[in-house]
This record gives sequence, structure tokens and C-alpha cells, in this order.
Amino acid sequence: MLIVSCSHGRHIGKKIGKKHADLIVDKFPDGELRVRISASVKGKKVFLVQSFYKDISDCIIEVILAAKTCKELGAKKVSLIAPYFPYMRQDKRFRTGEAISQRIIGQLTDEYFDAIYTIDPHLHRTHSLKQVFKIKSVELSATKSMAEYIQRKIKNPIIIGPDAESSQWAEEVAKLVGTASRVLAKRRYSSYHVEVKLNREIDLKNKSAVIIDDIVSTGHTILEAVKILEKFRPKKIYCICTHGIFVNDALEKLAKEGIKVISTNTIPSKVSKIDVSDAINEKLN
Ligand code: R5P
Repeated sequence: MLIVSCSHGRHIGKKIGKKHADLIVDKFPDGELRVRISASVKGKKVFLVQSFYKDISDCIIEVILAAKTCKELGAKKVSLIAPYFPYMRQDKRFRTGEAISQRIIGQLTDEYFDAIYTIDPHLHRTHSLKQVFKIKSVELSATKSMAEYIQRKIKNPIIIGPDAESSQWAEEVAKLVGTASRVLAKRRYSSYHVEVKLNREIDLKNKSAVIIDDIVSTGHTILEAVKILEKFRPKKIYCICTHGIFVNDALEKLAKEGIKVISTNTIPSKVSKIDVSDAINEKLN
């Protein structure tokens, strides 16, 4: 087995605790990518580690070039470890003529890899990775690591899911922590406009409200949820997410509202305090 860290996977690949090499990546003057595997892959089961953030399209081209090269150089199997896998939210044609990107990117992955491992994928209208990929797919979760973080650092937590999709993670974290959970209702009008509602009162007196979500992107979902939670005067509001995309000034906006934000390191940032390399290591074979 050989772990090969791509440009956006080095912060995790090195920690997985198996034989490791880097994918060397640079750019030609016109912006085209050049990749080179820095170790022999002949006869090996190769796991490419790449998270897909910032330059998502470059990240995709990079793994395609690397996967095909591994096969050409005699790798026995090539798997993708994608701590954060992109395009999962575009799971239907929301408007006439739109691409169902989740399906297309899934098919592209099938084409070049023998297996995919990913963490807390955004499964909403598609309920399983088996509907996205034909290759072997392994769904990993950061919920155990999140629960351990909460038990170590947060007193009197109540877990909040900001929308129906988040209930899968919020309820699991609450169970592991041994506390209660509540899920709010969300309606999305556009990328930057969401409305969150609560249908029953919630007792947050002397409690820490811990919002759990898979993704924080613009931060609007969390900001809307916080508006509601504040009415019940919790001691403190936390937001813990698996994938901290934090576009533009999302982190600053959340900090301004006094919310303590923590994410896992599927996407590295100044708040990525929860490491997922153990969750990956446990499931590799
Ligand atoms: C969508 O349902 C996801 O679970 C997140 O709630 C969403 O992607 C967060 O996006 P934003 O931070 O832009 O509101």
C-alpha cells in the first residue's frame, strides 16, 4: 500500500500512518499542470489523497493525470481518498438546462479510480454513494471525532442541526455525546439567501448550543440559525462543521456574531482543529 499526497491532500496524507510519497505538482507558464509521482508504484495499491477546495477544477485535473499515470506505471489498484469531495450539492437539475454535476463528476471518478473513500459526503436527494459511483465507495464520518471534541471542550452542550439534511450528523453526534438534539427547518432561495425556522420552543438556558453541519460555505445557514437560537439566550453558540469552505469573509461574519467556529481538517484553515486522519486510517484496505 502506498499513500500519495496530491497538492491539496498533504496535510492529511502524511498523517495517515502508512508508507507515503508526494505527488510533485507544478504549472507550465500557460497554467497547464505538470504532475510527477515521486516513488515507484509498480505492483502497489496506490491511494491518492486529494481534497477539493479553492482551485477545484485544477484539483480534479491533477488527480486524473496522477491516477492514469499510476495505472500506466503498473499500479495494481488506484483509489482516491477525498476528505472533501466536490459537486455533491448539485444533485439535480434545479433549473432547466443545468448540469447534474454530482452525477457527471461521479462518472468521471469511476473512469479513473478503482475505489473512493470520502468523509461526510453531502447526500441529500441521492441517499447513498452507491448512487453516485459505480466503483467501490466508502463513506467515512467525522461525527466520532466531533463528539470527542465536544466532550473535551464544551460544557452543557445541546446539539442543533440547522436544516433537515444536517439531522444525520447532528443526531449521531448528540447520541455519541449523550445529549439532546434539535433540527431546524431551512428554505434556500439562492446561494446567499436562506431562511431558517424553529417550530417549537427550545430550552437553552445555561446551555451551549452546538450547531453541527457538513458544510459551511457562505455562512448564511449558520447566521440564520443563530438569529433564532439567540432568542433563547444560550450561554454560548458554537458551530462545528466537517468541511469549512468559508468563502469570502464567512469566518469573519460568524466571529462578529460571537460564534465560535471549529471545523475538521478536510479543508485546512485557522479553525480546522479536528483531525480526520484516524477516521481514514481505520477504514483503509
Ligand atoms: C446544505 O444543505 C449544506 O448542508 C449546508 O448547510 C450548506 O451548504 C451551507 O451553505 P452556506 O454556508 O452557504 O449557507
